[in-house]
Amino acid sequence: MSVSTEHLRVAVLLSGRGSNLAALIEAAGQELAIALVGAFGDRADAPGLARAAAAGIPTASFSPKSYPDKASFEAALFAAVAASGAELVVLAGFMRVLTAHTVEQWRGRLINIHPSLLPKFQGLHTHARAIEAGEREHGASVHFVTPVLDGGPVLMQTRLPILPDDTPESLATRLLPLEHRLLVAAVRLFAERRVRLDGDQIAVDGQMIGEPLKL
Ligand code: GRF
Repeated sequence: MSVSTEHLRVAVLLSGRGSNLAALIEAAGQELAIALVGAFGDRADAPGLARAAAAGIPTASFSPKSYPDKASFEAALFAAVAASGAELVVLAGFMRVLTAHTVEQWRGRLINIHPSLLPKFQGLHTHARAIEAGEREHGASVHFVTPVLDGGPVLMQTRLPILPDDTPESLATRLLPLEHRLLVAAVRLFAERRVRLDGDQIAVDGQMIGEPLKL
């Protein structure tokens, strides 16, 4: 892939399989004007890191156990992220809560994809919780990361109906391809330099958005 200076430099942080990363890799190979400058993980055996390496993306993993505390682990991780020249950092299945210090340093340049219609179902087991709660709709959100877990301003969402016989697994399976499209669409807005975080407000094309954009 040839990379122009206008390509947005994107780093991805992950802990697991990396299907969202794979969606970004595929889109970057087509029309999405990003350069994936690094994939970073908190476990060396994360399949997502192998996917990245296979695509020629530099990878690094940082084990929290190798550091005396959370702050020094994050300092090492984000020093590597900064060294990659990343302009945007995407948390895509990164299973750690970042410290307020890191989040503030990267404020406006750090996004997460979360499998629920935030502010509903922050945290884990979102599909099961949505079904248990009797929700008729579920979805995924791309939001800016702030010190509040899954609580930052939401840029874009995708929705799908919950079917009567849905299980957490069937719901997750139907949602995943929508998540991939959502993440690519959200990153595209950054690549086109159309998004800005102003305090707790998101501006797209210079206009504050009152509610999340819809995929
Ligand atoms: C996705 O469901 C994402 O929304 C959540 O973690 C999962 C990561 O999946 N934050 P993958 O590693 O990208 O396949």
